[in-house]
Amino acid sequence: MSCPFTNAVNSLLFFVGGTLGALSTAKIINRKLLSNSGGNVTEFSCTGNPQVLVAGGAGYIASHTIVCLIAEGYDVTIVDNYVNSNAESINRVRQITGCERSRIRVYECDMCDPKALENVFRTSQQFFAVIQFAGLKAVGESVAKPLLYYENNLISTFNLLRMMEKYNAPNIVFSSSATVYGDAVVPITESSPTGNGITNPYGRTKYMIEEILKDWYKAQNASKSIVTLRYFNPVGSHPSGKIGEDPSGIPNNLMPFVSQVAVGRRPHVNVFGNDYPTPDGTGVRDYIHVMDLAEGHVAALKFIEKQWIQTKQESGQYSVFNLGTGSGVSVLEMIKAMEAASGKTLKTVMAPRREGDIATCYADPSKAKNELGWTASRNLQQMCTDLWKWQSDNPQGYTSA
Ligand SMILES: NC(=O)c1ccc[n+]([C@@H]2O[C@H](COP(=O)([O-])OP(=O)(O)OC[C@H]3O[C@@H](n4cnc5c(N)ncnc54)[C@H](O)[C@@H]3O)[C@@H](O)[C@H]2O)c1
Repeated sequence: MSCPFTNAVNSLLFFVGGTLGALSTAKIINRKLLSNSGGNVTEFSCTGNPQVLVAGGAGYIASHTIVCLIAEGYDVTIVDNYVNSNAESINRVRQITGCERSRIRVYECDMCDPKALENVFRTSQQFFAVIQFAGLKAVGESVAKPLLYYENNLISTFNLLRMMEKYNAPNIVFSSSATVYGDAVVPITESSPTGNGITNPYGRTKYMIEEILKDWYKAQNASKSIVTLRYFNPVGSHPSGKIGEDPSGIPNNLMPFVSQVAVGRRPHVNVFGNDYPTPDGTGVRDYIHVMDLAEGHVAALKFIEKQWIQTKQESGQYSVFNLGTGSGVSVLEMIKAMEAASGKTLKTVMAPRREGDIATCYADPSKAKNELGWTASRNLQQMCTDLWKWQSDNPQGYTSA
């Protein structure tokens, strides 16, 4: 398994001294602290592993993250309404991890339905943490259907936070995006301004949720830990080729489009703008292998656990990290790398700039390195090799199965 983190989480077992769902945060106790205190308690989790609620768990980034979570000794509960995913991804995750069925529980649930979401919390063990991946993410669609995006992305998150309050789930990791930086100057650090120059409703939902999380953190008297991860441009797939990105309709992002051209599903790649102030005139982005990104989530959970142990679960922290490589790659360089990985020549067609696109965007990822001990380790070649393995083994995505 490629996740490089140690299995220290297995030393964290969770206990309860009361009724499920009516627990105070303080009753989730680290085994080491507990054994030192000589407490007489009932074991909480049937496997002894911390439970993580993965919201939007059938999706692209979440499915790769679950592979890492399972390898690192977390058990997972997935909620998803499959609006942009396929339940087959969960079967594939089970194949990759080979874990017992009980370690990955699945609820088909629209998180905008508060009763359905409450049912998940009521019938589950207490969650150590929630990872909020669920949301709609197509930039162009968000411009055409802003209400759908505000409604889905904000209401699903409100419902989740309400349930976290009611059922004392203490920690959350939120999937944000480099889009919150708008047109900030590169390299982008976590203290670069946010909220200015965001060009679409999708990006604004991310910015708004970040602001809501900050207010919520203060209102909880800092008792909860919140980690906001700002992703740059995730690409690639698990090296097995069993899971990968399977967008419905016309892909919004470059690399799923390029891989669909390579596999013969689309005739050519449109390159939107070749007159940007970049070395070859095409847009430059910070592409990150999805497995590196997945490992970033495990690093975030371990960061939260460490704080918990240090503060004896009395106080949380609000933190933000960029997850990127720190290097920019142009559209033409990406297409060339995919040609090398697939052995195909890909037809490109130059098209006008798209409204709202910026010339260059890449991260300064040093905060994640210093505080999470995380860096992206996979290079461009590996991103394209793994993406091609997924796309060539599953030319029609999960529906090929
Ligand atoms: N992929 C990227 O380029 C990128 C970049 C930055 C941030 N993000 C964010 O990361 C998260 C995951 O992205 P992804 O690429 O894996 O997207 P994805 O569409 O593959 O995954 C999102 C999942 O959420 C589910 N979902 C959406 N609304 C829901 C609802 N109301 N109830 C239950 N489930 C719901 C979808 O069915 C899907 O399985 C998203 O929030 C996205 O905005 C993605």
